[in-house]
Amino acid sequence: MKAMTLSKPGGFGQIALSEVADPGQPGPGEIRVAIKASSLNYHDLLVASGAAPTEDGRILMSDGAGVVEAVGADVSEFAVGDSVVSTFFPNWLAGQPFAGVGHFGHTPGDGVQGMAAEYVVRPAAAFTKAPQGWSHVESATITTAALTAWRALVVDGQLKAGATVLTLGTGGVSIAALQLAKAMGARVIVTSSSDEKLQRAKALGADALINYKSTPNWAEQVKALTGGEGVEHVIELGGPGTLAQSIDAVKVGGHIALIGVLTGLQGDIPTATLMRKQARLQGLIVASRTDQQQFVRALEQTGIRPVIDRTFAFSELASAFEHQKNGQHFGKICLQW
Ligand SMILES: NC(=O)c1ccc[n+]([C@@H]2O[C@H](COP(=O)([O-])OP(=O)(O)OC[C@H]3O[C@@H](n4cnc5c(N)ncnc54)[C@H](OP(=O)(O)O)[C@@H]3O)[C@@H](O)[C@H]2O)c1
Repeated sequence: MKAMTLSKPGGFGQIALSEVADPGQPGPGEIRVAIKASSLNYHDLLVASGAAPTEDGRILMSDGAGVVEAVGADVSEFAVGDSVVSTFFPNWLAGQPFAGVGHFGHTPGDGVQGMAAEYVVRPAAAFTKAPQGWSHVESATITTAALTAWRALVVDGQLKAGATVLTLGTGGVSIAALQLAKAMGARVIVTSSSDEKLQRAKALGADALINYKSTPNWAEQVKALTGGEGVEHVIELGGPGTLAQSIDAVKVGGHIALIGVLTGLQGDIPTATLMRKQARLQGLIVASRTDQQQFVRALEQTGIRPVIDRTFAFSELASAFEHQKNGQHFGKICLQW
């Protein structure tokens, strides 16, 4: 079967369309899935570029959506023909995070073989049902980016209608957060480096827009937009280069979901301001399988459909990563066979 693999030491030039062994029929508790689509995340880019080293010949991509082709003994949750979507942490089924989900040792496309393959055979718990009526490309946007936005706002954030959410940038996580927050009755402030992208965010319902390039002190603008109080929730994706302003922009008693480190891995944190704000700074990495099941139900009820920037063929994966690296995208970049 065909798969998109990465040779050591990594780098987009090391990505190849390879012929690899078919995974065969599912054993007890397993399902065989014909993968139809995937979507790109920053994490996949780190693996593919070699910045997050992985095994030689690794099949790439954490997100996968497709159709169940066969079910093993003892599998009652899925039937042949079901549309399914993969989970980021196949070993985190429910409850609080634990040490085993603090790294990527079980994450497809990093610690284990990924979803950029025609077929996979995995424990049934490595997938959930996809939202009814969604295309495979749409479903493939859930696993990493959108589910993280769900956890940040709903599971950890306990978002309430009327609250104000600040989300940074217009990538996959941020646009999912915008759509979800609007569907749940929140007011949303979006930042971006591009006025054109801000207008697209407005078309999706964003209530206020800030260009973080032309307004480098964007926290002041956020405070001005909230009567000096700040926001209840920040979707923090920049890390050290943005966290100080996120702390400045959050309301007393508010919540900052520390999701991304786009600007680097270490930096100064204004601890006294954070303390004075009595704000909750919550680091998080995606979510559990149970969270994904609840999110899928919520998506079916809200009517949200993901924003897809562009869909490439799996064989064009290197070009898709180049597109992501160039930063021109708005929402999700997807793949299909
Ligand atoms: N913890 C988790 O579970 C988790 C899950 C998913 C992603 N992440 C992390 O979250 C981050 C975003 O992921 P993604 O998949 O959404 O990436 P993405 O789709 O590649 O989006 C990146 C976007 O971030 C924005 N950005 C870049 N630098 C920024 C800055 N200094 N200030 C504000 N925005 C900035 C840009 O928006 P504009 O073009 O509009 O400026 C860019 O389009 C990454 O660090 C990723 O590793 C973490």
